Amino acid sequence: MDGRDLVRSVKAVGSTGAAQSLRTVAAAWRRRRTDAAALPPRGAERARVPGVVREVEPGPGGGVIRFTRSELRIVVAVNGVVFWGWDGAGPEPSYALAGRCPEPDPRALLEPDKDGGWRVVAERMTVAVSRHGAVEVRTPGGVVLRRDLPPRWWEPVGGGAARWMQRSEVASDARFFGLGGRASGPRLRDGTYRLWNTDPGRAFGPGDDPLYVTMPVQLVVADAATHLVFHDSSWDGTVTLREGEEGAGSGHDRAGSSELRMDGGPLRCWAMVGTPARVLLAWASLTGAPALPPAWALGYHHARWGFGSEREVRRIVSGYQERELPLDAVHLDIDHYDEHQVFTVNREHFPELPVLAQELRRSGIRLVSIVDPGVRAVPGNAVYDSGTAEDAFVRDALGRPVRGVVWPGESVFPDFTHARVREWWGRLYEERLAQGFAGFWHDMNEPTSFTAFGESTLPRSARHSLEGRGGDHREAHNVYALCMAKAGYDGLRELASRERPFVFSRSGWAGMQRYGGTWSGDVATGWPGLRASLSLVMGLGLCGVPYSGPDVGGFDGSPSPELYLRWFQLGAYLPLFRTHASLRAGRREPWEFGAEVLEHARVALVERRRLLPYFVTLAHLARRTGAPYVRPLWWGAPEDRALRDCEDAFLLGDCLLVAPVLDPGADRRAVQLPRGRWYDTVTEQAYEGPGQVLVDAPLSRIPVLARAGAVVPVRGDDGGLELEVWAPAQGRTGGGLVVADAGDGWDEPELERYVTRWEGRRLVVEREGESGAGEPPYPVRVRGLGER
Ligand code: NOJ
Repeated sequence: MDGRDLVRSVKAVGSTGAAQSLRTVAAAWRRRRTDAAALPPRGAERARVPGVVREVEPGPGGGVIRFTRSELRIVVAVNGVVFWGWDGAGPEPSYALAGRCPEPDPRALLEPDKDGGWRVVAERMTVAVSRHGAVEVRTPGGVVLRRDLPPRWWEPVGGGAARWMQRSEVASDARFFGLGGRASGPRLRDGTYRLWNTDPGRAFGPGDDPLYVTMPVQLVVADAATHLVFHDSSWDGTVTLREGEEGAGSGHDRAGSSELRMDGGPLRCWAMVGTPARVLLAWASLTGAPALPPAWALGYHHARWGFGSEREVRRIVSGYQERELPLDAVHLDIDHYDEHQVFTVNREHFPELPVLAQELRRSGIRLVSIVDPGVRAVPGNAVYDSGTAEDAFVRDALGRPVRGVVWPGESVFPDFTHARVREWWGRLYEERLAQGFAGFWHDMNEPTSFTAFGESTLPRSARHSLEGRGGDHREAHNVYALCMAKAGYDGLRELASRERPFVFSRSGWAGMQRYGGTWSGDVATGWPGLRASLSLVMGLGLCGVPYSGPDVGGFDGSPSPELYLRWFQLGAYLPLFRTHASLRAGRREPWEFGAEVLEHARVALVERRRLLPYFVTLAHLARRTGAPYVRPLWWGAPEDRALRDCEDAFLLGDCLLVAPVLDPGADRRAVQLPRGRWYDTVTEQAYEGPGQVLVDAPLSRIPVLARAGAVVPVRGDDGGLELEVWAPAQGRTGGGLVVADAGDGWDEPELERYVTRWEGRRLVVEREGESGAGEPPYPVRVRGLGER
């Protein structure tokens, strides 16, 4: 460590003081010593490739292909998804899968392919394996979507986990998306992306990688089809991507490539092929349906690190109420804890939290609590004592509890990879429920432990249960937050079984959507941060995590009024709409930026409330189909290359196209339209796609366009549901889906389908039912009639 490291670490802990920064120095040394003793250098390694095919053994859904130095198991599952695993790897155990591995499809058989290879034919893809172990994913028509070259392993001669590398080629026109939450996407350009959940330790921008949520999930979009591959290993690794190039004139195409290097874990892969919607459906059927947020969580949230007291919370809430600004939730950060210790309350400043919670609830506002995993390691701290009695904390290779440093000071960390520990932790939310909290915001769960130098997390040699299999932090790190989310979600289901839990988490991994969503972490205040926050939401959605959103205004510093407003306007169309900022940052209340910003922010808030029924519908559709609310413009037309490269606008469900303003000084912007007619939702001016159009984007609003024919459920002036119908072009039809809110419990509301069509000069809107079409049970308002 040098002086710079120390300065950096002191800055990292900021006002928590010198004692804390000394602790981080000690923690860094401890971490280094622990790993040096328990993880000796790998020493000499032996490289290995599979060799040539020797024999095959057919099995359910596929079979096993034996090579001279490895074997490959292929299974086509009943949901059309294909699994393959090398070296005897099977689909289980896996933290990503929602339950047991799906059943093998008995119709899929291993059959000989050309040149001594073998293949398995599934409904939407063929997987072909060459004599030397290259694996090709082909469309049913035979177009190659992906070609994995034979993998390579490096095994320590003295034993231990093998590192491995998988190089793949994709079509020259293909674009890469996914890999969790990435600041520089959503299109993942050439570069190396790391797979290790990381708190960057400061507010991040587009150049920072990795961040809090990484996943070995790649969505690849090409002319021939879209495919998703998931390499189910939670170890540290990197993915190096290089987009291909199409040869112009007489030139050759250069394939795109992906090189995945993992420090360990099984080499196993799931692949799914089809349209983007089909691929996300298959992904959700494998890794679980996204949790359905309660309707209030689809409203507007105000968070702040540093409310400091109940009085201040009341003051801010009154600020919203006096100005008649809709507010649905208030989030309390660590400053409401007693000395930063989770599951406690600072009674001096928050003497009557349950009363405050009740008061707020009467005004339709819910309280949300931050929940950090670090537990202050001091006897007498009730959480520490009960965790110690449960033997709940992560230990090192010598059996001593691993100590790190987080906000409460020297801390220990629950081992969420143990079912018993998850149950213990889940029960602790009883205290939060008694305080009146309705939702939970999991933080610092990469897990982060401040260290003066090196990585800010637990030692890699720290031991974890991993459901009784035993292993260390190299394997457990990336699934730590996922397991914490499970603990919280399952605990809340037990404790408050009539309400759907609302949990969102800073870190996570494949499958985290089963328990809730995420937010974008500490995004840097600035125009690049605004762009990064949209990239994160889109990228996460394509990895199956549909509910997320940024800290509106950015986490640090003070946004200009214009930046704040543009962020606010974007946030109003993202699933999690929340203002939040650091203790040391400027204010984020809409009235802090002058009268003009306040009026425009009001419009955004009122519109969000009006669109609540649409958000509820999108949440239900996400749960039923895996489709994210926020979708890239190419969602319905992945073959449209102009759309594929468009990153600054998105579809909100099927009906709306949102074109946020991401640059300062803009009062109009170019929008790339998918096919069909689109109406500016404010002026009702119609535009015809496909193609690029220039639309007005005054400070008062960002462009939002409605698809002609769309049926959008909205909240009417009386609070009831209404259908806003955007006229289809003459001779065309339209339609839409509605799922009405059925409260915060577990009732399963019906999916209502509406259709619209012209009968002469009259636009008919009907509900489709089993017994034929009928009148919609809601008031209907037709818009866009000026353009026929
Ligand atoms: C880090 C989180 O990302 C941020 O949202 C929170 O305000 C601070 N921790 C303090 O709890």
